Amino acid sequence: MRKRVFSGVQPTGRLTFGNYSTMRHWPKLADDHDCIYCVVDLHSVTITRKPEELRNETRKVFAALLALGIDPDRDIPFIQSHVPAHSELMWLLGCHTMFGELSRMTQFKDKSARHATNVNVGLFTYPVLQAADILLYDAHFVPVGEDQRQHVELSRDICLRFNGRYGDVLTVPEPLIKGAGARVMSLSEPSEKMSKSDPNENATLFVTDGRDTIVKKIKRAVTDSDGAVRYDTENKPGVANLMTLYHISTDKPFGEIEREFDGRGYGVFKAAVAEAVADCLTPVGQRLNEYLSDAAQLDALARRGAEKASERAVKTLERVYNAMGFYKC
Ligand code: TYM
Repeated sequence: MRKRVFSGVQPTGRLTFGNYSTMRHWPKLADDHDCIYCVVDLHSVTITRKPEELRNETRKVFAALLALGIDPDRDIPFIQSHVPAHSELMWLLGCHTMFGELSRMTQFKDKSARHATNVNVGLFTYPVLQAADILLYDAHFVPVGEDQRQHVELSRDICLRFNGRYGDVLTVPEPLIKGAGARVMSLSEPSEKMSKSDPNENATLFVTDGRDTIVKKIKRAVTDSDGAVRYDTENKPGVANLMTLYHISTDKPFGEIEREFDGRGYGVFKAAVAEAVADCLTPVGQRLNEYLSDAAQLDALARRGAEKASERAVKTLERVYNAMGFYKC
C-alpha cells in the first residue's frame, strides 16, 4: 500500500519563495505516495481578515497549488473549511492536548508577541487544528519547512497519546523536511525566516513578483564584505541564503555553485541568482493566472477535492468517535 502524505498552506498574503521552496516538493511526492494538500483557511483567521480578502486569497492559494503542479486527477487538493470534520476532530484532540504543550509552541510565542492586542484562543489552539488536519487523513508523512517541525512533532505526540489510550486508532505521522531549502531566509535580515508578513517588501520574494522586481530585490539583498561565494550559514548568512535561492532554482549542488562563481564577485553572482529565480517562477505565475481566469473550473476542482477529502475524513472521525465510546444509534 502506498504511504500517505498530507500538507497545508495558509491563504495569507502572497506565497513567498520560502513557501515555494517547500511546496515545490509536493507534486513530486505523488510519484510514490497518495497525496492530499489543503488550503488551511480556518488557520488563517487567527489574525483579523477582511472577508473579501480571505475569499480572494483562498481562491488564489488554491489556484497556486494547481499551478505548482498538484494534479487534481491524481492528488487531492481542497479547502479546509469545505470539510467540517477538521473542526470536529480538533475538539476531540483538544481534549488530549495539554495546556503546557501549547504554551511551549514557539510560533504561538512569536505570534502573540507580534499581535499583542489580539492574542485570541485560536492562536493558542492552532496546533490542535493542525494535528486534526494531519490525523484525519492517516498521513504517514508531512512535508513542511523547518518552521513547522514543532507543530508536526506535537501532532505526533497527540497521536501517540490518543493511541495509548484507545488502541491503534490513528496513524503516527512524521515530518518530511528537505535540506537547505527548508528554511529560506529574509533578503534583508538573513538571520530571520523569509516571511509573508515581513513589513519590508524588499526582504521577501513573492511567487508572483515579475523579473524586474526580483532583480531589484536581489540586488539589494544583504551580503558581506569579503566577496567570496562560499556556503557558510554561520559567518556568511546572506551569501549562503542567495546560494540557497540559486540551488532551489537550478538544482545545482552548493559545491558546484561555489566553483561557478569563484573569483567573479557578488555583482555577477546576484545577477545570475535573480535570473535563475525569475526563470523558475515565471511559468508558475503564468499557470496561476490561467487557473484564476477560469473561476468555474476552479470552483469545480475545489468542490471535487472537498468531496474526495470528506469521504476519507468522515471515516477517520467515525473511528475516533467509536474508539472514545460515543453512543451511536
Ligand atoms: P504556511 O502557510 O506558513 O507555509 C506553507 C509551507 O511553507 C513553508 N515555509 C517555508 N519553507 C522554507 N522557507 C521559508 N522561509 C518558509 N516559510 C514557510 C512552511 O513550513 C509550510 O510547510 N501551519 C502551517 C499550515 C498547516 C499545515 C497543516 C501544514 C496547517 N495545517 C497540516 C502541514 C500539515 C503554516 O502556517 O504554513
